[in-house]
Amino acid sequence: MWTYLNGEFILKEHVKVSPFDRGFLFGDSVYEVIPAYNNKLFLFDEHLARLESSLSIINIPIPDFLKNLRPLIMELVKKNQFLNQAIYIQITRGVDPFRSHVASSSSSPTLFISSTELEINPYRENPMKKGLKVRLEEDIRWKRCDVKATTLLPNIIPFHREDGLNVDEILFYDEEKVCEGSKSNFFFVFDDLIMTPPKDQNILVGITRNYFLKRLQEEGFRVLEKEIKKDDLKEADEIWITSSTKEIQPVHQIDDNFLPEKEYEDCYWYKALMILEEELKGDS
Ligand code: PDD
Repeated sequence: MWTYLNGEFILKEHVKVSPFDRGFLFGDSVYEVIPAYNNKLFLFDEHLARLESSLSIINIPIPDFLKNLRPLIMELVKKNQFLNQAIYIQITRGVDPFRSHVASSSSSPTLFISSTELEINPYRENPMKKGLKVRLEEDIRWKRCDVKATTLLPNIIPFHREDGLNVDEILFYDEEKVCEGSKSNFFFVFDDLIMTPPKDQNILVGITRNYFLKRLQEEGFRVLEKEIKKDDLKEADEIWITSSTKEIQPVHQIDDNFLPEKEYEDCYWYKALMILEEELKGDS
């Protein structure tokens, strides 16, 4: 597999970043994950806009190389050959001569791009597959989850506890409100109403979340951005996650509560998945 680091394509086995990189020393870095289907980037402009927003919120000046990001990524996609790929872009504040909270004025941002084969959403091939198992976790993250920061300790610690967290995803809650997952956004269906937590609820505003919100509204579904309480979860008819790598996947169990069984054709998550499939077919 090929990667791209600061102007050069380098094989994965040979690529190296300095330990004095602020991404390593301080987690002083942001990232994006963009899916490519059939060698075409999906929702690239939206991902680029979010990357620019993450950079500007943490005061990394927008690097010039972002102007050429699309052709760079496309070259990497070609080199790595898989038809469908997940492209990871990491940008740090750069390498400093020594460790200091204040970055050296001479350092310039590090750009690292890698890609992996994008696993086909298993619910496309088998919509009857059992849904995901999720666990509720208290949200101990910082208050700027709208920044796609690489510092993800609270998102990964639960998966590394000694007792082993045998779940597919976590659903973070803050006091009584549910927010999002460790690596995805959540949607909840109550009768015919589809809801997802609002932007101001300290979430990463997912590109996939926004895509489904918009497309479902256009197709005439009732969709709302609205606070959802932990207690409401028991009343939900469906719960789904969305992300750039998972697309849309249904939840079967949250802690000890099981979601009602429904025929997949009647499920809103399946209708949403069909909307995406149609779009991708039209795109290819
Ligand atoms: N995760 N919330 C969090 C905390 C996330 O990490 C992600 C994405 C999302 C969904 O965002 P989007 O639809 O733009 O992918 C929500 C990516 C896939 C990752 O970190 O690998």
